[in-house]
Amino acid sequence: MAGLNDATRGRLLFGGDYNPEQWPPEVWQEDVRLMRDAGVTLATVGVFSWATLEPSPGARDFGWLDDVLGRLDEAGIGVCLATPTASPPPWLGARHPETLPRDEHGTVVWYGSRNQFCASSPVYREHAARITEDLARRYGRHPALRLWHVNNEYGTACYCDETARHFRSWLRDRYGTLQALNEAWGTAFWSQRYGTWDEIIPPRRAQYLINPTQVLDFRRFTSDALLECFVAERDIVAAHSPDVPVTTNFMPLFAGQDGWRWAAEEDVVSVDLYPDPAAAHDDATGPAHGALVQDLTRSQAGGPWMLMEQAASAVNWRPVNRPKPEGLMRQWSLQAVARGADAICFFQWRQSRQGSEKFHSAMLPHAGEHSRTFDQVRALGEELAGLTDVVGTTVTASVAVLHEWSAWWASGQPGRPSAALDYPAVLATWHQALWEQNLTTDFAHPEADLTGYRLVVVPQLYLLSDAALDNLTRYVRGGGTLVCGFFTGVADVDDRIREGGVDERLRRLLGIARVHEWWPLAEEERVGLSDGSHGTVWSEDLELADAADDSEDAGRAEVIAAYATGPLAGRPAVTRATAAGDVGAAWYVSTLPERPALRALLAEAARTAGATPVLPDAPAGCEAVRRGELLFLLNHLPEQITVPLQDPHTDLLSGQAHPTEVTLGRHGVAVLTPTPKGSRA
Ligand code: GLA
Repeated sequence: MAGLNDATRGRLLFGGDYNPEQWPPEVWQEDVRLMRDAGVTLATVGVFSWATLEPSPGARDFGWLDDVLGRLDEAGIGVCLATPTASPPPWLGARHPETLPRDEHGTVVWYGSRNQFCASSPVYREHAARITEDLARRYGRHPALRLWHVNNEYGTACYCDETARHFRSWLRDRYGTLQALNEAWGTAFWSQRYGTWDEIIPPRRAQYLINPTQVLDFRRFTSDALLECFVAERDIVAAHSPDVPVTTNFMPLFAGQDGWRWAAEEDVVSVDLYPDPAAAHDDATGPAHGALVQDLTRSQAGGPWMLMEQAASAVNWRPVNRPKPEGLMRQWSLQAVARGADAICFFQWRQSRQGSEKFHSAMLPHAGEHSRTFDQVRALGEELAGLTDVVGTTVTASVAVLHEWSAWWASGQPGRPSAALDYPAVLATWHQALWEQNLTTDFAHPEADLTGYRLVVVPQLYLLSDAALDNLTRYVRGGGTLVCGFFTGVADVDDRIREGGVDERLRRLLGIARVHEWWPLAEEERVGLSDGSHGTVWSEDLELADAADDSEDAGRAEVIAAYATGPLAGRPAVTRATAAGDVGAAWYVSTLPERPALRALLAEAARTAGATPVLPDAPAGCEAVRRGELLFLLNHLPEQITVPLQDPHTDLLSGQAHPTEVTLGRHGVAVLTPTPKGSRA
């Protein structure tokens, strides 16, 4: 099977989305000259070219693309060729309105923007397959072709009648019989029982709360329906070029696709990433967000991955769009390399002069080649070209953060104990608490093999399958350390509350007899804990298991911190359990501690589990990651920092030797390789 190494060929890929159809051929000539100047090795072409390639139904205009790919090839620039199916031309919607998606209200989502297709529409699929087939037949053996890019940021949900038919057939596959569906959905509630398959519809606008399992299944279905579109196009392009890997770009920590299922279908996992340049260094939307998405993407890929899109400077879709100060684009690019990326690409190569994204930055901005942005792009291209040692190497993590999309979809619905519970925010807080102390983390599916990890953390998985619960039990019984966050293990895969409110296997592991009640906190409310720290978002009325229970699998919990204020004062808040004869431990954290407290708690769990931070002496604000033999150091503080080293190293970026320490200025980065013994440092 083709993989990312077939595209990189030993060099980090560097480039961006290239939309030549927005420009006359004179500009193409300049583009190629400047791409060479900037060290671009990969151009992603054709992402939104459908209307240019097929100006009227069945017509084909490949001449311009022949020309562009020929020019890129001559210049030695590789091509990531996109199927154009994310943005059907207006004629498709005008002639076949059934290809247009409908929202929950039944309102048509019109053309005039992009992504206006219904994944279940056979007419859309047929047209998408035809243009993909012709594109693949024509360019599948093109010498410049390095990678296929199918569609773009899949994610449009549709609620139309065609979708309803497709949803029913998906449900038939899942449940087999209507009786099984009625049981899984709990349709005895509110007289929702279905008597025929035809009565079932997507969760359209309704009078009040919609059946939660119907909503959950519709999210699973929507992800699968979009995935069918991807797989269909992937198979077409692969048939014409079996040695060329195929990807589709994810949005960062995106709710609309089951990222584990999708990644399994891709040769290369790629992501688009846009942290906020205006964020403070320790804000969740800044470099911590970058690290989270990079760790997740690497874990989905199971190795090197591709940063398909980032911004050279400002985006145009935040309320206020701040440019990246000098050095930040370089630092965030190298952060991605540190965390496993073998391709650093941008949206987009040349800044548009028209259309909705003309104020979105690009590698080549409106200000032209003599601009600060282009200077930085050129410098980055040169640096990345020198980092051949990193290509194909891996990042090894001793900590796993468990994450799963169904749990997100189920816990994010209305009608729960608290609307203030925000799954991705909880996940991000836990990841950031690990990231801030340079404990390298992977993400993992709760049913994945966890044996290689010293520490496994579950920030909050409301829904857990039986297989996942057995997996966690096996992990702890096998000597692992588990830290489990609040409101976890509550529902089964049908969103049916587990017997006793929390799964019994989990309660036994945690040494908890029962959770009497969920006790969510008001927004901005903090509850005091006995160690002087505070919890946010959530609290729980817990009762610990009887310490006298000496059955073999009964976890005995000690209270690490109790609630100190509010209605639960004196009751356990954070616990740690071990079972007789076990070496493993299972912590339970029934609130969301503020980040410094969560950091301290995780530091202690990691210490006892034997998970060690990269460079334990690194000062705060210094991100340290090991990739292969290389040690990446990044300074996220506004001021200069000095990082002590245990052994002499040489910085591959500056060429400088660092016998004992490295000093990094604002946005500074060092990529250190151990200095061979005997050589003069
Ligand atoms: C996404 C899309 C691009 C572009 C950028 C702008 O990532 O894939 O086409 O719209 O956003 O940030």
